[in-house]
Formats: sequence, C-alpha cells, structure tokens
Amino acid sequence: MDTATNARSGAAKSPQPGVWDISDMERQRRISDAMLKTIRKQVTDDIRADRIKPPLLPSVATDLMTLTSNAEFEIPEVVGVIEHDQFITASLLKVANSAYYGRRAEVTNLQAAVMRMGVSNVRDLVFAIAFRSTILREEKYRLLMTTLWEHALTTASVTRKIIEFRSLDASHAFLAGLLHDIGKPTLVLSLMGIAKELEKRKQITFEPQDYVPEMFEAFHVAVGGLIGARWNLPQVMRQAIEQHHEPDLDNDPTGTVRAVYLADRLTNAVCGPNPEQCIEQIEQEGVLERLDLGPLNLERLVAEVEKAREEALAAFA
Ligand SMILES: [Fe+2]
Ligand SMILES: [Fe+2]
Repeated sequence: MDTATNARSGAAKSPQPGVWDISDMERQRRISDAMLKTIRKQVTDDIRADRIKPPLLPSVATDLMTLTSNAEFEIPEVVGVIEHDQFITASLLKVANSAYYGRRAEVTNLQAAVMRMGVSNVRDLVFAIAFRSTILREEKYRLLMTTLWEHALTTASVTRKIIEFRSLDASHAFLAGLLHDIGKPTLVLSLMGIAKELEKRKQITFEPQDYVPEMFEAFHVAVGGLIGARWNLPQVMRQAIEQHHEPDLDNDPTGTVRAVYLADRLTNAVCGPNPEQCIEQIEQEGVLERLDLGPLNLERLVAEVEKAREEALAAFA
C-alpha cells in the first residue's frame, strides 16, 4: 500500500470533538470544493514525493533520543547534551520543580534534575519542551498549534497514567502520547506554503479553519508515519502514531498503543465541547473492555485527565 492510499485508509475513525472538529463546526466556508481538491492533491503529491518536512526540533531533543536509545550511556553524557541549550536547561529545571513532578526540595542544576527524575523522564521532558517551542513559533497558526500542543501534552500524561495503573513498562508511554498526532503540526507547516501560493494565484484569502480540519482527517496519520520514520523513532512510538485510531490491535505487546488510543479518546472527550456525551459514548462502546483494560475505572480515568491537563499545562506555561 503506498503512502497516499495509507493516507486515505488511515483517516481518523474515532470522534474528534474540539475546536477544529469538522463534524461539530458550523462555519461559513470561504473556500470552494475545487480549491479544497487542489490542496488535497498537493498534499497527496507531497507525501508521494517525500516532500513533507518534519518540524525542526532543537538538536538537543534528537541527540538525547539517540544517546538514550543506546544501552550504554552515562549520566554526565546526558547532562552534557542538555547543557548545550540554555533555553531547554532553564525550562527543564522549571518543570522539574513544578507540582507536575511532585515538587520536593528545589533542584538547581541539571545533574540533580536527572538524578531526581530519571533519564527517561528527562528525555521526555526535553522532547516536550523542544516540541512546544517549535510548534508555537508560527504566529498565524498560534491558536491551532496551542490546541494541538495542549492535546498532545494531556494525551501524553494520561497515556503514562494508564500504563502506570496497569503496572506496565512506561518508558515509551509519555512520548508515544505526545507524538501520536505529530502528523497534525507537520501538516500545518506544509499547508501554510500551499495556502499562501493558492491565495496569491486566486487573489483570495481564507482562514486555516476553512481547509485544515479536512486535511487533518485525511492525512495526519500517514504524515505522522513519515515523520516517525524520518526521526527514526522507536517502533512502539511509530505504531502509536500510525494506529492510534484503531481500537482492535493484534500486536501491542507493551500495551502502549492501546493506552494512547484510550488517552486520546478521553482527552478529546473531557476537553471537548460535550464531555458528558462523549464519555457516555466511550462507556456505551465498551472501549475499556474492547481494549482489554476492563479493570480500569472510567470515572477515575476521567478525573485523571482533568488533573493531568491542569498540572501539565501549569508546568509548561
Ligand atoms: Fe489522531
Ligand atoms: Fe489525538
């Protein structure tokens, strides 16, 4: 199956309530179907020709991912990679001292932060700080990117919670949740160029919400898959990116992909415009049973989403 076919088959299957949900939006579209078709074709061509560029993360994030994927590394090496970036170092210490990480005695240097939080938590945090600073850079799309960031961070926290509740290996949980929709900010960056070109050619202007939701629905899974490969992410994260809308998985040995599916559904439900209705839908669909997560309690999970969202957003504010 080629990537463009993948793009079609990978379209979001679960409800996606929220600011950018086409099913919930009543909007006056300023863009014709023909123009939407043009944008869709351009994105398809870009995917096929491998022209989609990943968000440009500060190198400290990818360097740390590479270092820690190697079985043999020393804490001073981790500190050495991070301290090259003063912004990341300062942000890391701020989050390490927040309620999100239990706020014990204040940590004032990187070495202490790594010792307190553990290398995989530090790696996750560095990636999250880098990801946030990268996707919030564009002025025109700031509202959309902020929505995507908050969804990614909350899903990451909830995924880790679900894995911890189940006493499974949580080492990839946060990043799998954080990056599950990486196709979306990547698409926004690509679409900016396409839209600008079209506006110039047709002498019109239109807003992101006129075309972005359709493109997300059609392409975000396929584009995310390309980025996972480009960044050489661990297999479990790539699977979470490519299958986070698929509740019926044959192959999920660590339980991480199913946790991302559930965290994504819960985050969309709790943070969307109709939380009660969406939570009821999750219950009616028997999602916990379907994912073989029966012993988990939906009410408790919903409370966790609210708490995770609040703490995470405060820590990264
Ligand atoms: Fe998604
Ligand atoms: Fe999502």
